[in-house]
Amino acid sequence: MFITDRIIINEKFKKYIKINVNNMNYKDWAEWYDIFYSSSEHQEEKYYQKISEDFEGKILEIGIGTGRIAIKLAEIGKNVVGIDSSIEMISKAEKKIKNKKLSKKISLINANMLNFQLNDKFNLIIIPANTLLLCENEEQQINVLKNCVNHLTSKGVLIFNVYYPDNEMINENNKEEFLFNTINLKNGERYILYGKNDFNINTQINNGIQIIEKISNKGNLLFRKKLKVKTRYLFPEDIIKICEKSNLVVSSMTRDFSNLPLDESSENIIIFAKKITPQ
Ligand SMILES: C[S@@+](CC[C@H](N)C(=O)[O-])C[C@H]1O[C@@H](n2cnc3c(N)ncnc32)[C@H](O)[C@@H]1O
Repeated sequence: MFITDRIIINEKFKKYIKINVNNMNYKDWAEWYDIFYSSSEHQEEKYYQKISEDFEGKILEIGIGTGRIAIKLAEIGKNVVGIDSSIEMISKAEKKIKNKKLSKKISLINANMLNFQLNDKFNLIIIPANTLLLCENEEQQINVLKNCVNHLTSKGVLIFNVYYPDNEMINENNKEEFLFNTINLKNGERYILYGKNDFNINTQINNGIQIIEKISNKGNLLFRKKLKVKTRYLFPEDIIKICEKSNLVVSSMTRDFSNLPLDESSENIIIFAKKITPQ
């Protein structure tokens, strides 16, 4: 293991980092992630900030990315350890963390959620932003959850969120582009993010694409770029099953970053899971 400035690279796992993270190119996403996902305050960031107040000690974030959520936690005094397989994403995080003078509160580790091994245990582990769905199949998702279990204290809690698969959308499998987000720049230009889904009901994989367009102030297309977003979606019953197989028990599933009960109109599922401890 060696340390470059604040980023720790685990030599032993480097080959797995390269092999397993092929479903989404976070090298490309690093350039765009904050433009589209950190431009306005999301409910998700506030939710994790609030929930973290109930936990003592360091928090582990799986797939810390550009630090969008970890920075919010550090701003209220929490210490965060974040792992991510994309050196480009954590380099972005590192810059933001330095600018905000939060380097002492956040440690960045370049590691793969499929096989990370930290010499530490946490009362709270979080996997925000659908990151568990970036695994290619059920086996990998269970792997990640098992790794989390190994890093939880006996009373520790794992909180993660995933999108609620919309049955109607999946069965229809309409592959048309839909508008996701528009960002207006000061000079009159704008970025537009479109999404496109392609669901496979057998593998439960959505071979999604996100399309970025830059439009000039005269309305001309300046460029168009396509990025893959492949996710293995999970229904509530799948979540309970993969948790059980990972030695976790689901203590609650709620809707859309609230404590409200889950139903099929929910966009997101927020899961609280605890380690099953022998009686
Ligand atoms: C959707 S982003 C979420 C980033 C951040 N948690 C947030 O909420 O803004 C997913 C992150 O997971 C990381 N990631 C994807 N596969 C991973 C893996 N196998 N191990 C570790 N990190 C992974 C990506 O590099 C990316 O930074």
